[in-house]
Amino acid sequence: MAFGRGKVILLGEHGVVYGHPALAAGLGVGVHATARVSESDDDVIVARPWGVTARVGSDEPLALGLQAILEGMPSGVAGSAGSAAEGRPRVHVEVDVELPGGAGLGCSAAIGVAVTGALDALFAIERTAEERGDYSLRWERVFHGNPSGVDNAMAAVGGVALFRRGQPLQSVRVKKPLPLVIAHSGESSSTKEIVAMVARQRDEETQRVDEAFGAIAALVNDAKLAVEAGDLKGLGQLLDLNQMLLAGLMLSTEKIEELCRVAREEGALGAKLTGAGAGGCMIALAKDEADAERLREALAKRSPLTLVAMAGA
Ligand code: PMV
Repeated sequence: MAFGRGKVILLGEHGVVYGHPALAAGLGVGVHATARVSESDDDVIVARPWGVTARVGSDEPLALGLQAILEGMPSGVAGSAGSAAEGRPRVHVEVDVELPGGAGLGCSAAIGVAVTGALDALFAIERTAEERGDYSLRWERVFHGNPSGVDNAMAAVGGVALFRRGQPLQSVRVKKPLPLVIAHSGESSSTKEIVAMVARQRDEETQRVDEAFGAIAALVNDAKLAVEAGDLKGLGQLLDLNQMLLAGLMLSTEKIEELCRVAREEGALGAKLTGAGAGGCMIALAKDEADAERLREALAKRSPLTLVAMAGA
């Protein structure tokens, strides 16, 4: 059983697409995948919770993703899969998705990493977690126009890490685990569309958008230091500042603002959207695990999906 974890971006989403750093944390929940040799003549992927079966050759997105992953696998590899006489055997992949899609939790990247891991096991291909993250960018490109790669890297490696496009993931030493509450706004958003919307803003007002990204990058670097120092209060303030800058890029919504406000009124150290924004999830930083549970209960009255994650524990 291969696993791809979900992630939250603590700070730095969107700027990361343009080469700025982002600070992210892997989640314990994600996607499990298995792969076996198919009895049929097709490569098939089944996404169990959604009841979707897709065959390579169709234009179903899951089939296109599987095709992209298979295309990069060496042909004729038998490994544990059996005969290579007629080239690569057809595969049957099953995925179990524990994450909501369109929520900013890196669902599609987690599927890509889990599917890559399941096929690696089937074909006895050895890769490090980082290599698997890089490889599964093929999957992500089917779903997103211009992925930075942060979701894949985190889905494969986890922990708390600083990511910069094209560079190896930099693990961050966490002095005190981060008690996070994740709350879904109930609004679904398409990362591809939101990233394209930000690109249009940047085309029209390059200086304004690049200044915002520069300011966010400074917050990311400070946040890394706060995590290393165990300064949760300082980290919370940085989350709030990042949220203001994201709202200035028209990435927040009334519902996200409401959830952030409630979290702060309930004593959160800071709160912001996470991932692409314009819907999806928000994260709030609590003082400790017990406080996070209390905050989660308060947010659950206004959110269809809430969870507590102790990042870096
Ligand atoms: O919405 P998610 O979980 O796919 O996160 C997207 C993060 C962005 O920075 C907005 C895009 C990217 O590719 O890094």
